[in-house]
Amino acid sequence: MLRTHTCGELTINSINTQVTLSGWVQKSRDLGGMTFIDLRDRYGITQVVFNMETNSVLCEQARKLGREFVVQIKGNVIERSSKNPKMLTGDIELDAAALTILNASKTPPFTIENETDGGEEIRMKYRYLDLRREPLKKNIALRHKLGIETRKYLDQVGFMEIETPYLIKSTPEGARDFVVPSRMNEGQFYALPQSPQTFKQLLMVGGYDKYFQVVRCFRDEDLRADRQPEFTQIDCEMSFVEQEDILNTFEGLVKNLFKEIKGIELDNFPRMDYAEAMAKYGSDKPDIRFGMEFCELTELAQGKGFKVFDSVEAIIGINAKGCASYSRKQLDKLTDFVRKPQIGANGLVYVKCNDDGTFKSSVDKFYNQEQLANWATKAGAEKGDLLLVLAGGLDKTRKQLNELRLEMGNQLGLRKSNEFAPLWVVDFPLLEWNEESERFHAMHHPFTSPKPEDLSMIDNQPGKVRANAYDMVMNGVELGGGSIRIHNKELQARMFELLGFSEEEAKDQFGFLMNAFEYGAPPHGGIAFGFDRLCAIFGGQESIRDFIAFPKNNSGRDLMIDSPSVISELQLKELGLKK
Ligand code: AMO
Repeated sequence: MLRTHTCGELTINSINTQVTLSGWVQKSRDLGGMTFIDLRDRYGITQVVFNMETNSVLCEQARKLGREFVVQIKGNVIERSSKNPKMLTGDIELDAAALTILNASKTPPFTIENETDGGEEIRMKYRYLDLRREPLKKNIALRHKLGIETRKYLDQVGFMEIETPYLIKSTPEGARDFVVPSRMNEGQFYALPQSPQTFKQLLMVGGYDKYFQVVRCFRDEDLRADRQPEFTQIDCEMSFVEQEDILNTFEGLVKNLFKEIKGIELDNFPRMDYAEAMAKYGSDKPDIRFGMEFCELTELAQGKGFKVFDSVEAIIGINAKGCASYSRKQLDKLTDFVRKPQIGANGLVYVKCNDDGTFKSSVDKFYNQEQLANWATKAGAEKGDLLLVLAGGLDKTRKQLNELRLEMGNQLGLRKSNEFAPLWVVDFPLLEWNEESERFHAMHHPFTSPKPEDLSMIDNQPGKVRANAYDMVMNGVELGGGSIRIHNKELQARMFELLGFSEEEAKDQFGFLMNAFEYGAPPHGGIAFGFDRLCAIFGGQESIRDFIAFPKNNSGRDLMIDSPSVISELQLKELGLKK
């Protein structure tokens, strides 16, 4: 071994021992008579001291070391005269007796420190250097721990981890597939799995009644802070269960993770049906760390001569507690916020509930004090509060107000990263109407079963049918989603028909699943968690990127290896992609 200890383990108890450390030079300080080096590895930093008086040759050598040089240092552990209580090794330092340069380093393009001076792009390009920084190390270690604890828990409750193939046939999960050309089958393509959905269902038919897999999934979709083209799921499926069993089992998993990793005992997760979530928060993944629920003002606000309001489907408000003192400038900023093209509202109406009991609104011309008082009462607003109101089509207005609510939550510091508010959203609609294709799409996926009590509506009002589908939401993030599946061939065939597949198409794409359903498919259901998102929530961050060792940027590029890239003519020919 090139070391006897790591750079994170020597303490006051190690004093007067001869040790060998290996690591990277974080920084060096030359104080004339003494040269100090901070030596870093995965485990921490140890201060090394070179003394000009006792060993001038060695000290000269140390002075020439550049940042990120890899060195081995032998020496004696001594007590520090000025201790650093913030460091694990802050009580000691290494009195160097020998130094070997194991490898030199060019000057890194950014500082390898907690607060680095490197921009996003340069850090992505030199990801291996970024990974040396403490915040990333912490995230990667957290990810490892979450993976281990997940496997431990699921193993304990009887789940078996089974791998499923990556070269498969397209599975519709709402995104586009990444495809791989087959050299041996010219003109034909594999698809990379968007999830192991059909395989895990086939495992249920195979009798493996509790399956899980920590598995890479691939989706060619627009990327955001919480979306990567390849990401990891904790994918699970169970047989002989109902929705309640799945919710309990996986609430158990998440509670266990919080207990083991954060020492937090979460209460039972509240549940809310989809319709309520949309009406109260305008979102199927509401952040319930704070209230600020929607208030319907349509009836109160219409018919009073304000044409803009009279012609709309919905007028909805939220109450921003204690914000009546917002200045003109702050209100203008909020108006600009809702008018951004990504949000798309036409304007924002406000009502200030003044401390003297009067109201000041942006629509004073149309509404008198009494009418505004009625709005305030309905919204539960008190003196000092600010009502913010949007109007328009119901669905659009809800979506816009959801964005405004989250923005106000941020502005008022109500979305704390060390607070955790889990929620099950249940009873999703089975289908969703797609304006572009003018047909129904599966809201979750085509294998999700309708609620038995809604089955009678499937022919006449398919849009009203609810599904046995659920999402686990935490702090406004969709952590996981799943459903009880269809296990009956006829119902599955009917579902494909509703989704606009011809019999031929359904047979061609999903014949294997329909066939399997003819050989004793047990009732089954499952869920998949976004593992990267779980890590980010535990790490108190919104972006999943820094919880993945080698992520891609928002254009789906890996800047370090420069991919995707063109391939050679020869490869194209071999694959039958070029004549
Ligand atoms: P779903 O499509 O809801 O369900 O995905 C499950 C969870 O995976 C995470 N996720 C993502 N994370 C990062 N980047 C992405 N591009 C991305 N897309 C999804 C989310 C999401 O909740 N087969 C079903 C599960 C089932 O029915 O059992 C499925 O994949 O956290």
